[in-house]
Amino acid sequence: MDITKSILFEPAKIKNNHLRDRFVRSATYDGCADKNGHVTEKQMDLYTALAESGFDALEISQGLGGLNGEGTEFRTKINVLAREAYFRNGCRQIKNQVDVPVMMVGRLRTCELMEEIIQKKEADLISLSRPLIREPGIINEWKRGDRHRAKCISCNHCFEGLMKRKGLRCFQEERRQRYSQ
Ligand SMILES: Cc1cc2nc3c(=O)[nH]c(=O)nc-3n(C[C@H](O)[C@H](O)[C@H](O)COP(=O)(O)O)c2cc1C
Ligand code: SF4
Repeated sequence: MDITKSILFEPAKIKNNHLRDRFVRSATYDGCADKNGHVTEKQMDLYTALAESGFDALEISQGLGGLNGEGTEFRTKINVLAREAYFRNGCRQIKNQVDVPVMMVGRLRTCELMEEIIQKKEADLISLSRPLIREPGIINEWKRGDRHRAKCISCNHCFEGLMKRKGLRCFQEERRQRYSQ
């Protein structure tokens, strides 16, 4: 066996994605964000180093840190547009520093805002977590022209349920369905 050759390091095309190799960096608490979850210079250096070391894309987040929802990467109380996109500034800064695709995550709920972010080249990709737990089919609905705001209210009950081993589901949606029967 030629140890200099491995499928792990070969470029691949999977569906429409061109990959340089078969590695991704798993979501990892890096402890670099400040106590409010804002991107710091230390974090900028980390992401720049990751980009320079050959990663195909970066998701700008803070890892599982902070306290009581508000200080974490999955913050609560997001019912207004002004509270969407909490990693926007940090993401924009890092995007300016690196030449690999950057993914923005964190309370993105409104198509118009996501479109603006991509148009202004503040990120290359939009990353969603809780909206897809509440509405797994939302991307197809948006594609078909139903551009409603994601119904997820960022209460984090899905995360708490997961921690209590109740499985991954949206408790708000379950309750809504129960009362609408
Ligand atoms: C149920 C649940 C599980 C999550 N698990 C992880 C995890 O294991 N590692 C991680 O870095 N982030 C995790 N996250 C955070 C998400 O990846 C995402 O960064 C965060 O929820 C903000 O995006 P959103 O507003 O679209 O939900 C989790 C979030 C939820 C709701
Ligand atoms: S339980 Fe539902 S509404 Fe609450 S954060 Fe999770 S997906 Fe969103």
